[in-house]
Amino acid sequence: VGDFVIAIDGPSGTGKSTVARRVAAALHAGYLDTGAIYRTATLAVLRAGIDPDDAAAVAAVVTGLTLDPPVDPERQRHLFHGDDVSTELRGQAVTTAVTPVSANPAVRAHLLAVQQRLAHSGRMVVEGRDIGTVVAPDAALKIYLTADAHERARRRLRQDEQLAVVSTGVTGANPDRAARLAAVASDLDRRDTSDSSRAVAPLQAAADAVLVDSSDLEPAETVRRVLGLAAERG
Ligand code: C5P
Repeated sequence: VGDFVIAIDGPSGTGKSTVARRVAAALHAGYLDTGAIYRTATLAVLRAGIDPDDAAAVAAVVTGLTLDPPVDPERQRHLFHGDDVSTELRGQAVTTAVTPVSANPAVRAHLLAVQQRLAHSGRMVVEGRDIGTVVAPDAALKIYLTADAHERARRRLRQDEQLAVVSTGVTGANPDRAARLAAVASDLDRRDTSDSSRAVAPLQAAADAVLVDSSDLEPAETVRRVLGLAAERG
């Protein structure tokens, strides 16, 4: 059985993770959440007490990491030194620090090797920002998932609420939902602007990616569309 990679890229809050996981499960394929790999590396930096903007120190910590991310779409437990850190990876500290860590060229080079090894380990759905352009430019199918900014903020806030993590950027006691939504929207904008403008592997659609706008689609409908495109590519 040869490799069959489906690359799903796009900005934050488009529903990439939900869609990618469901597509992988439907195809009995593996699922690789590359954002979680960058988040785990960021957690290592924070645990080491290093300033995420100190490029040399960050590179030294991350290039020493051996990462073994989960690939089962039904069972996504992210471990760090044997502890399940899945919830902490979604928290405010990591979400803020992941931007400079993931813009670090030495970090990207080290994590690229991990991602490419797993991406080519069979049938895989790989989700991130640079999968179609850098990690798996030979992917059988490339999807670039978008959604309008307001809808993305709503989705990310709902996801944060379900995970019971404190939404990034929110300060003060008991902010109301509108304030939390505004904080999430501004954090998404901060990350997307930075992800799109960094020098190495910026967020961008591959020339041969299929653009899917999920603003008005239920996740099940987006999944159906991706599965239809996958079936066409064999
Ligand atoms: O997808 P998620 O929000 O978990 O990604 C967290 C961060 O990791 C992104 O904002 C981006 O800075 C970085 N990332 C990346 N390249 C990828 C996946 C994620 O730079 N392929």
